[in-house]
Amino acid sequence: MVRYGQRREGFAERALSDALALVAERLDPQPSPWENDPVGWVNTVLREYVWSKQTEILESVRDHRYTAVKSCHDAGKSFIASRAAAWWIDAHPPQSAFVVSTAPTWPQVQAILWREIARAHSRGGLQGKVTLDCVWRLGSKQHGEIVGYGRKPADYNPDAFQGIHQKYVLVLIDEANGVPANLWDAVDTIVTNTYCRVLAIGNPDNPSSHFASVCKANSGWNVIRIDGFQTPNFTDEWVPEYLRDLLLSKEWVEERALRWGKNSPLYTSKVRGEFPIFSDDSLVPPAWLYDAVGRKIPGRTGREPGVMGLDIARTGQDRSVCYRQRGGYVSEVFKTGTGDLVELSEAMKEAMRGKPGLRAVGDEAGVGAGVIDIMQHDGFDIFGYNGGRTPRDTERFLNARSEDFWYLRERFQEGTISLPDDEDLINQLLQLKWRMNGRNKIEVETKDDYRKRTRAGSPDEADALMMAFIGEEMPMIRPEEHESVDSALTRSQLEPDGLNYGQSDPFNVLEVVW
Ligand SMILES: Nc1ncnc2c1ncn2[C@@H]1O[C@H](COP(=O)(O)OP(=O)(O)O)[C@@H](O)[C@H]1O
Ligand SMILES: [Mg+2]
Repeated sequence: MVRYGQRREGFAERALSDALALVAERLDPQPSPWENDPVGWVNTVLREYVWSKQTEILESVRDHRYTAVKSCHDAGKSFIASRAAAWWIDAHPPQSAFVVSTAPTWPQVQAILWREIARAHSRGGLQGKVTLDCVWRLGSKQHGEIVGYGRKPADYNPDAFQGIHQKYVLVLIDEANGVPANLWDAVDTIVTNTYCRVLAIGNPDNPSSHFASVCKANSGWNVIRIDGFQTPNFTDEWVPEYLRDLLLSKEWVEERALRWGKNSPLYTSKVRGEFPIFSDDSLVPPAWLYDAVGRKIPGRTGREPGVMGLDIARTGQDRSVCYRQRGGYVSEVFKTGTGDLVELSEAMKEAMRGKPGLRAVGDEAGVGAGVIDIMQHDGFDIFGYNGGRTPRDTERFLNARSEDFWYLRERFQEGTISLPDDEDLINQLLQLKWRMNGRNKIEVETKDDYRKRTRAGSPDEADALMMAFIGEEMPMIRPEEHESVDSALTRSQLEPDGLNYGQSDPFNVLEVVW
């Protein structure tokens, strides 16, 4: 009995002292040796190397409440944000730290940042579990306490942050340029004490974004810029060979200089890590353009047959580009460097086959006419476009190309166009210029002028896009055709609502006329 009682007492004592230790730890936790040394933590716990700018970022998160990093492509931004998250949870006392992350789209949250967080978690053998739904829980059970999660902006409601009461909160905003302003406001509501931190990191693409405003001087944020020319492949900074291969390369930079031009907005942002400056004469202002990327268009499903726009390469350096737009939703059909017109016609036929109601508009200037001929001969609904023709509104526009690009610009203004994240297309739309000419007519820069001015490739993507939108409104009736087209075919009957693609087809009528 005595021995039994003693054993029971021993067990009870031990349990009590364990519990007391736990309570003491909770009330006055021992600081982690890594709390002030994020770089040491990454080096020691994860056995990973960080390059100089990554060190600067980690130390800024340690020292500043607000850190904004405007950076070139492939600098290791998302990587270092994930390491900051893992250090934050591991180096603060249990249950006192929390990480919230966001990025414009779910794949950016899940496949980039949280995949990296999961890797760090497993390399460091860190506490709890990181699951595929971007949640970090303590304990192994489904219901363990949550210490971090990632969501895209649309999944945060205004109260999403209300339940976070930890002392140490770290908010990560990856691809910060595309995160809407209301989410930044919500972030401010949780970053309330001196121990909380925000790290916003991204390409400085859009100077009218909220990210751009926090990157300005005197914004209260510690701003770090990573110019591509400061990254290890461009300097004599030593980094392990495997890391060199993962970071921005000379080939990538040289290729973009040729394709976009060194003064282009995208080169400025993705190579130089700086916000581009736009003048008022950009065809599509950046605020309209970036809003269109991935947009949902109210009332449009994107299931209509739609129109394809085909820009046909004129020189060996150009590519032929084809986009399809359906109710304003744009997707890439192909981009090809082939100079062979028969091959190109085949690719185009293949793309159009089996899609009733689909029509196409192709550039017929120069060699393009051959492709249009071949396709029309084989019965495809393709229309030859020539931007040099007379515009419908001869008072306002110099030529058809200027008018049709202006019409495209208006879709951006109205919000009735949704673009894929196509860097070449975005760069061209931002770089194309317009002006009022001497006779007070709107003139959009020609392909040749664009090429000479930017010293970049020709704006093939932008032209293909413009043509895809031409076909939707059937605006091919230009004044000089009015006499030849049946008088019943007035513009008002050609508005989309009045069109009946299946029966009398104004497109085909016009095809004969042109
Ligand atoms: N210090 C590092 N150690 C190991 N891999 C790294 C490091 N920094 C970046 N990487 C890897 O380099 C690649 C590019 O980094 P990422 O963070 O995606 O760049 P960014 O977000 O700047 O475009 C990724 O595969 C990432 O895992
Ligand atoms: Mg990234």
